[in-house]
Amino acid sequence: MRKMLIVPLLMGTLLPAAAQQTAQDTLAHCESCHAPGARGRTSATPRLNGQSYDYLVGRLGAMTSALDQSPHSLQVMWSNAHRLDDAARRRIARHYADLPADKAVPGPQAALGRQLYENGLPDEGVTPCRSCHGANGEGSDAGPRLAGQRKDYLAEQLWAFNLVARVHGPMNHTAMQLMPGQIDALASYLGGE
Ligand code: HEC
Ligand code: HEC
Repeated sequence: MRKMLIVPLLMGTLLPAAAQQTAQDTLAHCESCHAPGARGRTSATPRLNGQSYDYLVGRLGAMTSALDQSPHSLQVMWSNAHRLDDAARRRIARHYADLPADKAVPGPQAALGRQLYENGLPDEGVTPCRSCHGANGEGSDAGPRLAGQRKDYLAEQLWAFNLVARVHGPMNHTAMQLMPGQIDALASYLGGE
């Protein structure tokens, strides 16, 4: 009788600890590329700290499908995204969304970048970025955080949208109208070091 009681009690204490260990192993694996706290180890590895929860959940799901993702993101993230079930995606998104974001560090072309960010390109029918990404790039329900993200990563994503290697209607329409110098200026204004 005593044995029968002890076994469920032991399982009750051991299982959550084992699950916690798995969760920590997963984060350690992610951070082997995304760096401790997911602040980006190289300039082309995105930061996840302070990114919007809904966007992270959605993008982790999207990266399990080859349909609308760039070849580069599939090469580096396809197998990683497939490791995660829905519950793990939500747990990881919560973890990183709750970490403080890095700040933007304006570069030499920030003034032009800010002008584009705030006004869009009215003659080409490009909506101001701030209407979806927030007044200061902090993100909103309509779009992810951009402020403080790695500059090279931001520029590469704008190129991926421009070339429709990454498929997203409003962002393809936006990025196709941008000249190379304008992409650099936007990254200079929004990105962190
Ligand atoms: C082999 C290195 C590597 C590993 C391991 C890795 N990532 Fe990534 N991850 C990248 C790179 C590089 C990109 C940028 C891909 C691109 O250029 O589109 C990326 C992109 C992402 C993005 C998209 C960010 C955005 O702003 O849209 C998310 C979210 C993400 N990774 C989460 C994770 C999680 C969670 C794990 C662990 C389960 C993980 N990554 C493991 C390298 C890695
Ligand atoms: C109509 C709303 C809208 C407008 C306007 C818009 N965006 Fe976006 N943007 C989005 C959404 C939604 C996504 C996420 C796409 C996805 O889920 O793959 C996104 C994604 C991005 C990304 C990739 C972020 C990442 O972490 O991978 C960048 C960079 C970006 N936008 C820059 C801009 C810039 C710069 C402008 C203005 C020139 C702009 N956007 C205008 C809605 C918008």
